[in-house]
Amino acid sequence: MIEFNPVSEASAPGKIILFGEHAVVYGRPAIAAPVSQIRAIATVTHSSSNNCYLVAPDLNRHDRLQDLPDDDALARAAWLVLGVAGLTQPPDVTIRVRSQIPIASGMGSGAAIAAAIIRALAQHLNRPDLQTNEQVSALTYEVEKIHHGTPSGIDNTVVAYEQPIWFVRQSPKNLIEPFKVAAPLRFVVADTGVRSSTKVAVGDVRRQYNQQPAKFARIFDECGRIAQVARQAIKAGNVEKVGQLMTDNHAWLQKMTVSSPELDKLVDAALQAGALGAKLSGAGRGGNMLALVADEAMERQVSTALQQAGATNILTTILK
Ligand code: MEV
Repeated sequence: MIEFNPVSEASAPGKIILFGEHAVVYGRPAIAAPVSQIRAIATVTHSSSNNCYLVAPDLNRHDRLQDLPDDDALARAAWLVLGVAGLTQPPDVTIRVRSQIPIASGMGSGAAIAAAIIRALAQHLNRPDLQTNEQVSALTYEVEKIHHGTPSGIDNTVVAYEQPIWFVRQSPKNLIEPFKVAAPLRFVVADTGVRSSTKVAVGDVRRQYNQQPAKFARIFDECGRIAQVARQAIKAGNVEKVGQLMTDNHAWLQKMTVSSPELDKLVDAALQAGALGAKLSGAGRGGNMLALVADEAMERQVSTALQQAGATNILTTILK
């Protein structure tokens, strides 16, 4: 007999990719960090309705878990936990999901929502073994496969561990190394307001890689090399170098065709306003970009320029 927790709540952060998106799918190293001030939150409460409901007011959803299709990401997250816990019938609960992370904007909203549901439900079922970072990450990875067929694993890892990570997709086990920064890195994160599908961007890169394997392998190698150098620069506290490498990485992402006029406009505006470096973050084609700034004065200058260049939302996150 399972002793259920009457009310369980868990959350997971948004994320940014500092270096190596897309190339990471092909085994090159990448660096990502959580954005803890924006989060997805899931609560699980007992329901007297003899049913399990999934409610997400932000997404305009109120559904019975059993009625949802197999490829529904929220439902998949819930069924995965129930499956691992050995339950064939869901408990009588309402799983409520809220998120402050913009959808389809490169900030890991899908992974964070899945991780929050998984943790909250595991907590409800009194299963601490399913709440470890490793388990939450592994189950979130299964959900990520719905968002796109070949996730590298970086998004689920960074939102589950909630730490800056050095990540390499490899078998049998991905390399995951949390790291410390020697000097704080202050990022302005700006949204183009354009929503973009990770699945489409990753699929397009895959198609181009299949058509021109040598050209794309070289692009991925360059992104991997930049990530390696960036890791040393972060370790050495060489903030200016980190900025320059971000801008270099953006140029390779343009060659991969995953930037967009809106992203390029924000990157240019940030650089012209004096940012140390700037690049798109995540799958691209829309969503968010990052600008690295040295201090608060530069942050204000860059934020104003980004606003004038059409950013729909701006936040600052400091990695220390
Ligand atoms: C998306 O946040 C990062 C990509 O590299 C895809 C992935 O790693 O699965 C574009």
